[in-house]
Amino acid sequence: MPGFEIFGDEERKEVQDVLDTGVLFRYGFDGVRKGHWKAKTFESELAKRVGAGYCHLCSSGTAALCIALAACGIGAGDEVVVPPFTFIATIEAVLSAGAIPVFSEIDETLCLDPESIESVVTSRTKAVMPVHMCGAMAHIDEIRSFCDQKGLVLLEDACQSLGATFNGKSLGTFGQAGCFSFDPVKTITCGEGGAVVTDDKEIYALADAYADHGHDHIGNDRGLEGHPILGTNYRISELNAAVGLAQLKKLDSILEKQRLNKTAIKDAVARFPEITFRDIPDPKGDSATFLSFFLPNESQAREAASSLGNAGVDSCFYWYANNWHYIRQWDHFKEFKSPARLSITLNEKVPEYEKIQLPKSDDIMSKNISMLIKLSWTEEELARRIEKITDVIKGIVNSK
Ligand SMILES: Cc1ncc(COP(=O)(O)O)c(C=O)c1O
Repeated sequence: MPGFEIFGDEERKEVQDVLDTGVLFRYGFDGVRKGHWKAKTFESELAKRVGAGYCHLCSSGTAALCIALAACGIGAGDEVVVPPFTFIATIEAVLSAGAIPVFSEIDETLCLDPESIESVVTSRTKAVMPVHMCGAMAHIDEIRSFCDQKGLVLLEDACQSLGATFNGKSLGTFGQAGCFSFDPVKTITCGEGGAVVTDDKEIYALADAYADHGHDHIGNDRGLEGHPILGTNYRISELNAAVGLAQLKKLDSILEKQRLNKTAIKDAVARFPEITFRDIPDPKGDSATFLSFFLPNESQAREAASSLGNAGVDSCFYWYANNWHYIRQWDHFKEFKSPARLSITLNEKVPEYEKIQLPKSDDIMSKNISMLIKLSWTEEELARRIEKITDVIKGIVNSK
């Protein structure tokens, strides 16, 4: 996820604009800012880019999720259906809202399985939160139909999937709200940043106010603004927004290069009939930040992960054994380890997360390897990488 690979004069110029005015705050100071509104401009550019009615830029993807949950009316005691393969931020945001994460299986898309959601829905379920992992999509049309049918809020965590589409429509725009991250290892970066997109004017107004202590942002005197709601501070600075604005202009060229690099590796790996690939419901809409594939079984996947590392093929993730992205190793979550008591513990019925069984997800994740696709590889580096990858896979499939 390569925004950081391509900093250049474009980012420097946008940041310099901000430094030249000295206005690092995204609101107000109209006179001295010399027309530079980096956060506001980013919001309108991103809304246009993803085809959303509204966008609110904030301090991180995690903040975006917290804002979106609040703005969609999800709070104390509400159940939110989430996948077990995600970054823990998705779960932390649900907990911060006072809501209860309820895990449902993933399928071969590596995202929430639409078929499995119904079995975990209860009368307390308020929302479904699919996470479009590693640059590509869930069966989002089916998940959306399910949510519509059941009257549930659909909130997409598209933090890892900026630029990806399903049937031409941007991920993050299928439900009531969608969230993006611009942290340092995302497709484009602000250094730190995030965004909520929505087509719903009311959700946008709530998000915009919630992220800034409930300010309604009406008028040009901050001290006289109304506060229709309580909120908090999830504001982004103009400096971060400036970096993101330059990066956003590079999104199309980033996607193009990623797709070329991914296709070259995928074509080479596809020569092995033993290897199958992640299901991507609309391959044309893949943002191509990762190549994810399956070995025939867990032991071969473990062997592939370690052999790829030993061969010097960097950034090949075996999520099943990694502390980051899969529920298996989230002991801190399962034990509610937190500096202070979490509000989830006040509920009469708290899921026993340490006993959770997700056999389908375990089976899928235990066979999966995800390889990061970079922009900065030279042709020689890419060719060498492909050679090493195919050598490793040949060794593994031939030895069985
Ligand atoms: C799926 C997912 N959701 C949320 C986040 C949180 O984004 P941030 O790091 O900007 O808070 C991330 C970041 O890695 C992520 O991968």
